[in-house]
Amino acid sequence: MKGVILHGGQGTRLRPLTYAGPKQLIPIANKPVSQYVLEDLISLGIKDIAIILGETFPELVREYYGDGSRFGVKITYINQGKALGIAHAVSLCKEFVGEDDFVVYLGDNIFQYGIAKYASLFTNERLDSMILLKEVDEPQRFGVAKLDGNGKLVKLVEKPKEHISNYAVVGVYFFSPSFFKIVGKLKPSRRNELEITDAIQLMIDDGYKVGYSFVDGWWADTGKKNDILALNATILDERIESKIDGKALNSRIEGRVSIAEGTIVENSTVRGPAIIGRNTRVIDSHIGPYTSIGDSCNIKKSSIEYSIIMDNTSIEEILNLEDSLVGRNAKIKSNNSTARKTLKLHISDYSEVEV
Ligand code: DAU
Repeated sequence: MKGVILHGGQGTRLRPLTYAGPKQLIPIANKPVSQYVLEDLISLGIKDIAIILGETFPELVREYYGDGSRFGVKITYINQGKALGIAHAVSLCKEFVGEDDFVVYLGDNIFQYGIAKYASLFTNERLDSMILLKEVDEPQRFGVAKLDGNGKLVKLVEKPKEHISNYAVVGVYFFSPSFFKIVGKLKPSRRNELEITDAIQLMIDDGYKVGYSFVDGWWADTGKKNDILALNATILDERIESKIDGKALNSRIEGRVSIAEGTIVENSTVRGPAIIGRNTRVIDSHIGPYTSIGDSCNIKKSSIEYSIIMDNTSIEEILNLEDSLVGRNAKIKSNNSTARKTLKLHISDYSEVEV
């Protein structure tokens, strides 16, 4: 089986951060969302992986993943450019896929237990396509599947205006190469995209064997700021181990905290779950819980909770920073250290905030 990771799209719901890079590179517990995807594919034994690039800083994606050798896999880049739809992106993979089965994984989706179980189901049942479903409260935000009284998959609708079911189609799709026989028949949707749900509907209509499975555990689609902060909290909670490779001087470290090498925490408290990257300075501050601080940051006389602070960012004398998503190389400082008001920020790279 081969793997295809979708790394294009517009990321409009995550502006302004997506003015500085693709949303799939936003770090969750100091690791890009799409790296969780790559690692899940690697855990299935997949070695040949295509990454679809869009118009938003594709060079940053190439720079980060390189030829894949750092991860022990071969990465092929395919340029989609403009986001003309998920099915359009997949249609560009015909040559890459050849005669193999393949799995398409949206680069902004994460699953609690990964997708290994479903990959075996797809292969064992010799299907032409398999989708994964999850019951959700707001089906209108997703592709939605309708099952008949016998549990047979009968219909797929993208972002339905009228309620057809609560079963969202999540962002992992398994296919045999027969996908490429139907994709030419697709017409652009209302939002002018070639929809993956329409492609799978065509496969059902043309008599291909299309199966489904329900996803166990949680599934996250990191479309908005709140989804990202919630996912960061969950991943820190479930996956962060205590590991202090840096130095904690005259500081209190409570709960599960990971501090990478070269980092110094001084006269501070860090409450886990929390992670601090490499070569960062934390002085006279309170960090956590549910907080990720990147590499080479400078945090001084500040208090930060339930937030993601990306690499090279400096925060000084900010007493209550909460629920915040702060890009790389940003500077936030206060001219008035007695100001106790809570700050909630969603700001992009190189921003400067003075309060
Ligand atoms: O997350 C699951 C949902 O993902 C499904 O329920 C929907 O059926 C499916 O259409 C998709 O909906 P979204 O509206 O969330 O799709 P979005 O535009 O956010 O794109 C999903 C990912 O695919 C994202 O990582 C960007 C990438 N993408 C998207 C398009 C439209 C591309 O690489 N190229 C594209 O042309």
